[in-house]
Amino acid sequence: MCSIFSLRNGVFPAIDHHHHNNCANVKPQIARYSTHLSNSRRTELRAQLTDNISVVQSKPISQEDVINDDKRVIVGTYGRTPIVLTSGKGCKLYDIEGREYIDLTSGIAVNALGHGDPDWVQAITDQANVLTHVSNIYYSLPQVNLAERLVASSFADRVFFSNSGTEANEAAIKFSRKFQRFSHPNNTDPPTEFISFSNSFHGRTIGSLALTSKEHYRTPFEPVMPGVTFLKYGDIDAAQELISSGKIAAVFVEPIQGEGGIYSASKDFLKSLRGACDKAGSLLVFDEVQCGLGRTGYLWAHEAYGVTPDIMTLAKPLAGGLPIGATLVTERVNAAINFGDHGSTFAGGPLVCAAAIAVFDKISNPSFLTSVTIKGDYLKETLKKKLQGNKHVKEIRGFGLIVGIELDVSATPLVDACRESGLLILTAGKGDIVRLVPPLVISEEELDRAVEIIHECLHVLDEKISN
Ligand SMILES: Cc1ncc(COP(=O)(O)O)c(C=O)c1O
Repeated sequence: MCSIFSLRNGVFPAIDHHHHNNCANVKPQIARYSTHLSNSRRTELRAQLTDNISVVQSKPISQEDVINDDKRVIVGTYGRTPIVLTSGKGCKLYDIEGREYIDLTSGIAVNALGHGDPDWVQAITDQANVLTHVSNIYYSLPQVNLAERLVASSFADRVFFSNSGTEANEAAIKFSRKFQRFSHPNNTDPPTEFISFSNSFHGRTIGSLALTSKEHYRTPFEPVMPGVTFLKYGDIDAAQELISSGKIAAVFVEPIQGEGGIYSASKDFLKSLRGACDKAGSLLVFDEVQCGLGRTGYLWAHEAYGVTPDIMTLAKPLAGGLPIGATLVTERVNAAINFGDHGSTFAGGPLVCAAAIAVFDKISNPSFLTSVTIKGDYLKETLKKKLQGNKHVKEIRGFGLIVGIELDVSATPLVDACRESGLLILTAGKGDIVRLVPPLVISEEELDRAVEIIHECLHVLDEKISN
């Protein structure tokens, strides 16, 4: 048996029942964090680890213990909410102290089937028993089967798999540049630049970050990828003008912006981008990492607009909670890509693809998609009925089960109060928008209860102002 030692107050041990498979990682981790440990403590830990001593947990771990341990050993990139979630079932989450929450966050639009969907669990269990990982230097069945589903259900002819949304966009960046080189064989200066839009979010690796509009995500890491121009989301004239310059390799756009504040593109905007790109030879990339795969009630959000891209990126919900990214391309784009142009060790592995097939087969069912539309309409109507009279509520908007409540103040006090009342919700935009992205399997009763809690908690917005 393997134990992971808690370093809390120098008092260990605690057995982490979730990390039994990580024994091989323990020593390198200790070495990495060794600057936090006294030499004697390090020696003691090493001795225990070397001897592989299993130590019995002396007392239950409290929420506070976990939070303190996390603060000691995790790089501080996240402003975490002070609860420790330990289990979930359907649309409910449970914390370490046994409190129940209705989950309107879905791991930020990831757990589309909720938590512990039995078919999803079965698919993962069956696949893990057979084969979890093989290198992409070999063929494997789940990857091909998933790609066939994505191709059959979309504009695309080919799929490149990765492990996250930002990676799906990195692949789209590279493919766009390669496409332009391939399409301009005699041009020493082919189009290499990109257009992105206000309130966009495309990820946090250097290329995707360069396409992400929020300056404070970008500036500490500059120089990011050069050649990106940000235009106002919806500004048709500016986009047409810049695309017609002939310098643009690709235009990146979210048909519905999630992180940026739940803003939907207009049909005219996407159509005009399509037209301008076709004229100039630029590619149109739809980032559907957050809004894709059923969240809008359409399988792909762009279906609602009748406009198709050259490349579409997917991630969050695709494997129902396991890490995956996918870059879907047309044959025309694929023709520019050669062996060795891109790759990934983990991407498209059998386990994650088996999980994604289970997710895709449920979500792509037309009756499932209809249920998302019905529940989305119901949620918006109920929110409007209950909240619209409140002076802080400026707008309730969205599409299917991606819904925003724009406030005239910060949404954080409301988010905190809801959590204390057993409801988890998110913010978006500049923090003044409540973002609701529940599991797509949520029931109307759960939505009713969630709206009730938001309604009951709204008064905190007044209190915080008067304080
Ligand atoms: C539209 C969009 N694109 C890309 C990303 C980045 O995805 P990931 O966090 O998986 O890298 C996100 C994440 O929120 C997103 O909403």
